[in-house]
Amino acid sequence: MKALVYHGPGEKTWEEVPDPTIQDANDVIVKIDTTTICGSDLHILKGDVPAVTDGRVLGHEGVGTIVEVGTGVAKFEVGHRVVVNCITTCGTCAYCRVGHPSHCQSAGGVGWLLGHLVDGTQAEYVRIPFGETSLHSIPEGLSDEEVIFVSDIIPTGYEMGVLNGNVQPGNDVVVIGSGPVGLAAMVTAQLKSPRRIIAVDLDDFRLEAARRSFGATHTVNSGHEGWMDEVRALTRHGGADVVMEAVGIPATLEAAFELVRPTGRIANIGVHGAPVTMPIDRLWIENITMTMGLVDAVTAPTLIELIEAGRLNVRPLATHRFGLDDMLEAYDVFGQAGKNSALKVVITS
Ligand SMILES: NC(=O)c1ccc[n+]([C@@H]2O[C@H](COP(=O)([O-])OP(=O)(O)OC[C@H]3O[C@@H](n4cnc5c(N)ncnc54)[C@H](O)[C@@H]3O)[C@@H](O)[C@H]2O)c1
Ligand SMILES: [Zn+2]
Ligand SMILES: [Zn+2]
Repeated sequence: MKALVYHGPGEKTWEEVPDPTIQDANDVIVKIDTTTICGSDLHILKGDVPAVTDGRVLGHEGVGTIVEVGTGVAKFEVGHRVVVNCITTCGTCAYCRVGHPSHCQSAGGVGWLLGHLVDGTQAEYVRIPFGETSLHSIPEGLSDEEVIFVSDIIPTGYEMGVLNGNVQPGNDVVVIGSGPVGLAAMVTAQLKSPRRIIAVDLDDFRLEAARRSFGATHTVNSGHEGWMDEVRALTRHGGADVVMEAVGIPATLEAAFELVRPTGRIANIGVHGAPVTMPIDRLWIENITMTMGLVDAVTAPTLIELIEAGRLNVRPLATHRFGLDDMLEAYDVFGQAGKNSALKVVITS
């Protein structure tokens, strides 16, 4: 089969590799119908994720059709259409049982296996370990494009942003970073009926998208002095009830410390590569709660139900479409997403 293979920092090829085979009774082999590229894949290609070794097939998002099941798999049959969960879930270890498969012990202590520690979804076929609990059925009538983003970024925005941030009806919510993950946080924050969703970014195209398609009620470009006052003026209490950080750099988390109101919540979504100094001497007396984490993607089945019910539309995330054989071109476009006015690329076989 053909697959996108990582060959060390800066090196990738679209090349012929052996087809995956069942290795364990719980495995499921999925023919990939649709996949996409994540910002994490770009981090891997920069060499930021040393656990990914030469020869690894990348990708942890996908929609496909089951072509083979292990002897221990009862829930799925050949021909079922499924969404791949970015986090592999055994369903039985101490972490999975309490809803935190991001630390699945059966997967080796890290639930992010696909395109990280085992071969991933940017390929014609993929082997899914613990297939019964790591794949989700797709209801009749839903297209690949309607559900592909439930693999990763929609649960990421919802779980790490909306649920961790405990968004309540009537809240003023600020989302710093209007990339795919920030937009996912905004579109799912709407499910909680906040009063305002204030999108922040440096990129006017993304801010416009936030307002047009993802539920932002207001947008603020943070590329000028005084942007924080602009945000505060949009809130009822001189600060936000919930600030979500969806960039992953010190400056934006530091901005969250400034924009949260007393008793508010800071939900960090971003993956950070550098320490950040927390003004705990001020935040403690303001009763601030702060959360962070690796997504579990345990809300994927609920999110699929909301999409089916017409309560959640994440399709506008798809801005560019490619065939599977155009994988390298898709990487070029996504790698310069800002310049190409791209949000997510959809790659279909
Ligand atoms: N916690 C998790 O489990 C998890 C899962 C997936 C992704 N993430 C992280 O979420 C973050 C966002 O992911 P993404 O794919 O949307 O990334 P992205 O790079 O596409 O988007 C980041 C956005 O932030 C904006 N930005 C950059 N600097 C800014 C600044 N100073 N002020 C305001 N906006 C700024 C950019 O213009 C861009 O639109 C990343 O750090 C990613 O690694 C976390
Ligand atoms: Zn991802
Ligand atoms: Zn587990």
